[in-house]
Amino acid sequence: MKATRQFAVCSRIASVGASLLLFLSPARPAASAPPSNEALVLQDHAPGTVGPTLTSPASADTLDFAYFRDRIEPILVRERGGFGPSVSACVTCHVRSATPMPLQPLNVAPDGSVFWTVEQSRQNFEVMGRLVAPGEPERSRLLRAPLAPGAGGTHYHAGGKFWESTDDPEWRIIADWVRQIAPAEPTAATPTLQFEFFRDCVQRIFLDQRAGRTACVNCHNGGVRNFAPSIPDGRPYWNEGESRRNFDVAARYIEPGHPLLSRFLTRPLHPDAGGDRFHAGGRRWDSQADPEWQMLASWVRGEAPKCVLEE
Ligand code: HEC
Ligand code: HEC
Repeated sequence: MKATRQFAVCSRIASVGASLLLFLSPARPAASAPPSNEALVLQDHAPGTVGPTLTSPASADTLDFAYFRDRIEPILVRERGGFGPSVSACVTCHVRSATPMPLQPLNVAPDGSVFWTVEQSRQNFEVMGRLVAPGEPERSRLLRAPLAPGAGGTHYHAGGKFWESTDDPEWRIIADWVRQIAPAEPTAATPTLQFEFFRDCVQRIFLDQRAGRTACVNCHNGGVRNFAPSIPDGRPYWNEGESRRNFDVAARYIEPGHPLLSRFLTRPLHPDAGGDRFHAGGRRWDSQADPEWQMLASWVRGEAPKCVLEE
């Protein structure tokens, strides 16, 4: 078996990646407190090192690696005719680790084509397997980020939208890969997220600052991810209407029934504990055993937990 495989794309991709990324780096939040150093340290996290697979939504040993290498990696390097959101190759942005899907850097062959070694492909496989809900393409982060919101995709992807509908051939190739494994809870009904718990408890987390870290409210008070806007009129807490609105924004990052597929719970969770590879806001929870994380997971599963912030 050949140790490497080459894609018929130009090596330009590899070299523009760095400059584009500078341009695309997450906007520095207009917060009074600077982002915690943790975020900077995590950028150095070697791409491909993973936390325990037990905490991953889909275990990499159950997904088909050969299919990934033959059918999915070519989608990632495919040139799309431009530079920037929706028109760059996925790798252009994703070869750097400042996203939850850090891909391996490409190698350039003497003829100018680019390739990943088998070992690098395994690391890409591991990273992408964590963004998949077993058997459920519609719920998989990998399939939702580049998909248009009207077709079931996420509200926003900094890399733009690539697929207008789930009929897109690329979407279908990746969906077939995800469907090869059985769903975790095939019959479980999707639970309803309790608004009251969000209003009375979750929002208190936004205001709470842990030692050495920055409170959510300092950063998530503007832009597209503004689930914690500043509280008007010098009041100490959001009113009913404001809470409803904040709930609607936060719910975009929650997959009811699936704590580990909910960006709300994985972005501020340490990667070694099953969290995302990157969050510009650093980490609030070092482990899933954190009582606060446990409480939020229980809420996402549709339960009505006790608020652990209560005295
Ligand atoms: C122009 C740069 C750019 C391109 C091109 C791009 N992305 Fe992204 N992508 C990002 C950035 C930045 C993030 C992190 C912020 C965000 O989630 O919007 C991201 C996030 C993601 C995520 C994680 C979403 C989550 O649930 O947290 C996935 C999955 C993803 N991209 C897949 C893709 C795929 C597949 C392609 C190609 C079809 C692609 N991206 C093309 C920049 C890009
Ligand atoms: C220091 C600033 C900062 C703090 C503090 C912060 N964040 Fe973030 N957060 C960001 C930025 C910037 C992004 C977009 C880039 C990225 O994905 O990291 C982001 C992204 C996110 C996302 C992903 C949204 C998407 O588009 O996929 C979620 C969810 C999130 N943060 C939740 C939280 C929660 C919950 C807290 C508090 C426990 C928090 N953040 C604290 C700056 C911050």
